[in-house]
Amino acid sequence: MYAESVNTPEKFWGRQARELLDWRRPFKRVLSWKLPHAKWFEGGRINVSENCLDRHLKTARANKAAIIFEGEPGDVRTLTYRQLHQEVCRMASALEGLGLVRGDRAAIYMPMVPEAAIAMLACARLGVIHTVIFGGFSSEAIKDRVNDCQARVIITADGGWRRGRIVELKVNVDKAVQATPSVERVIVLKRTGQEVAMDPARDVWWHDLVAGQPASHAPKAFDSENPLYILYTSGSTGKPKGVLHTSAGYLLATVLTMKYVFDLKESDVYFCTADVGWVTGHSYVVYGPLAAGATILMYEGAPNHPEPDRFWQLVDRHSVTILYTAPTAIRAFMRWGDAYPARHSLASLRLLGSVGEPINPEAWMWYYTVIGKKRCPIVDTWWQTETGAIMVTPIPGITPLKPGSCAIPFFGVVPKVLDENGKDVPRGSGGRLFLAKPWPSMLRTLWGDDERFMKQYWSELPGYYFAGDGARFDKDGYLWVVGRIDDVLNVSGHRIGTAEVESAIVSHHSVAEAAVIGRPDDLKGQALVCFVTLKNDVEPSVALKEEIRAHVAREIGALARPDDVRFAAGLPKTRSGKIMRRILKEIAAGGAVKGDTTTLEDFTVVAMLQAEE
Ligand code: PRX
Repeated sequence: MYAESVNTPEKFWGRQARELLDWRRPFKRVLSWKLPHAKWFEGGRINVSENCLDRHLKTARANKAAIIFEGEPGDVRTLTYRQLHQEVCRMASALEGLGLVRGDRAAIYMPMVPEAAIAMLACARLGVIHTVIFGGFSSEAIKDRVNDCQARVIITADGGWRRGRIVELKVNVDKAVQATPSVERVIVLKRTGQEVAMDPARDVWWHDLVAGQPASHAPKAFDSENPLYILYTSGSTGKPKGVLHTSAGYLLATVLTMKYVFDLKESDVYFCTADVGWVTGHSYVVYGPLAAGATILMYEGAPNHPEPDRFWQLVDRHSVTILYTAPTAIRAFMRWGDAYPARHSLASLRLLGSVGEPINPEAWMWYYTVIGKKRCPIVDTWWQTETGAIMVTPIPGITPLKPGSCAIPFFGVVPKVLDENGKDVPRGSGGRLFLAKPWPSMLRTLWGDDERFMKQYWSELPGYYFAGDGARFDKDGYLWVVGRIDDVLNVSGHRIGTAEVESAIVSHHSVAEAAVIGRPDDLKGQALVCFVTLKNDVEPSVALKEEIRAHVAREIGALARPDDVRFAAGLPKTRSGKIMRRILKEIAAGGAVKGDTTTLEDFTVVAMLQAEE
C-alpha cells in the first residue's frame, strides 16, 4: 500500500476518498498542485459534519456511544451518535438563526466538554470556519486571535474544572471582547455554575439559544476545499500563525490514520487525552474518531486530580482500549510512581499512542511495561498542526517498534533529512526534516498571509515542505525526530515561540530587553529560561522575577510561564546586534561556552552571565 501511495498517489488517494468518505457529488480530480497551493478532490462536494454524524445514523452505530464524557468532578454523560447529531443540529440551527453563513468565523473557547465538539461540528455543518482557542490562553491571546480572523461570535462557557478549581473562561472573554470589534455575540455554556456577568445585548446562554431549535438540520454540501478551521500556532515571530485546514482531504487523512494507526475496531473505547484547543484535539478527539464511528472517551480535567491515578481510573471505569497521550504526561506519571497505575487493572488496554514531542526511550519502556503490561504496541506518531494528521508512525502489529523512534512514513508521506545545501545526509547523521510530496491534510495557507506561508514552509528548499524539526534516519530507515531547530520551543508538548514570550516580557515596564531560550528538562522536555535586562533605574529582586513570570502568564497563558528568569547586565550579541542564543543555551544548560565566539560584540557579557549563575 505504501508503494502505491507514493508511486501512484492519485490512484491511492482517489480510492481511499471514495471508500472512506460520503460524497454529495463525486470529485473530478484528485490533486492539483501548484507550489505552494494544493487542491485536493476538486469538483467534489461534501459536508464534514454529515460524515461525522448523519452517515452513522443509517447504520448500527446510531445508538452507539459517540462520546463518553467524564467531568473532573466525576460527572459522567454519554451521547450516542443519534443524540450527538441532535445536539449538533440544534446548535447549527441556532447559529444560522444568528445570521452566520458559510465563510464566517466563530471562535470557540471552551473546557473539554461535549459542547466543545458540538460547537465545532455545528460550525462545520454550516461551513462556518471555527478557530478553537485553548482554554489555558489568556484574554490577550483571545483578543489577538479573534481580531486576526475577525470572528463574529465567541462560543464559551462560564468556566471549566481544573484541579478542583474553576478556570474563569467567561471573565477572560469579557476582557478580550473590549477590544474585538468584530464580535457580535457571545454564547455561554453553563458548566461550572458560578455567577458570571451577562451583557444582555451581546451574551446569550447556550441553553436558551438551543431551546426550541429543531433536532434535525439539513446540511448543505460544500466544495472539497471549503475551509474547515483555523488553528493558531506559534512560529518564529511574535505573531501566532493561523494554520488553515480545509474539508475533504483533511477529513480523509484523519479517518485513514484512525483506521491504520489506531487500528480502530467497532468495539474500541478510544481515549485521546489532548485538549480540543490543540490540533490533536481536532484531528484525534473530534474529526477523525467521529468520522470513523469510534466511541470516544472525553475527560475534562487534570491527570492528577483528585489523585495521580485519575487516567488509570478512567481507563478501568470506561474499559478504554486505546490510549493516546503525550510524553510529558508519561514522564509525570513515572515521577509520581508505579503505585498509582498499580491500583488499577488496565486490562482493557490494547494499544498505546504518543504524540507531541520526542519520547525518551526510558519513558517509552515505562509506558510499555507499566501501562501496557508488555501487551500493547506503542505508536509514536510524528506530525504537526500544519500536517493535520499523523505523518510518521509505526503501524501497530506490523512495524517492529524501536523505543524513541517514530518509525516509518505513513501512506503518501516522503520524509527527507537534508543538510544545509539540500542534499540527503547519510543514514545515521542529523539534518533538517522536509516532506517531499503534498498530502491531503496539509495546511492550505496561513490565514490572511500567503506570503508568510510560502516563506515559512516552501522556501527553504523549493518544492519541499520544511517542517522546522531536526531529525535523522537510522541504518534501518527509522526516523528519529530530535526537536525544533527554529525559534520555537516545545514545553510539555506545547508549542511556544520564543519571540512571543520575549514580546510579553518586554511589555513589562521594568524590562529593557529579553531573550528566551529552551533548556533541556527531564519532565517538560524543554524549560523556558529568560535572560532579562532591566531598565537603568530598576533594581533586580526576587520579587521582580516573580512579577515577570506572572506577567507572561497573564499575557499569554499559564503554559508560557517562564521556569527561570535571570537578570543580565547585557545580552551576548553579534556586531550586527543579533542575540547569540546558542551562547545563552550553553549558559542556561550550565555548561561552558563552546564554539565560535569571535563574532561577539562584547566578550565581557559572557563572563558576567556566567558569574551571575
Ligand atoms: O517538534 C515536533 C514535535 O511537535 C511539533 C509539532 O507541534 P504541534 O504543531 O503543536 O503539534 C503537536 C501535535 C501533533 C513537531 O514539529 N512532535 C510532535 N510529535 C512528535 C514530535 N517530536 C518527536 N516525536 C513525535 N512523535
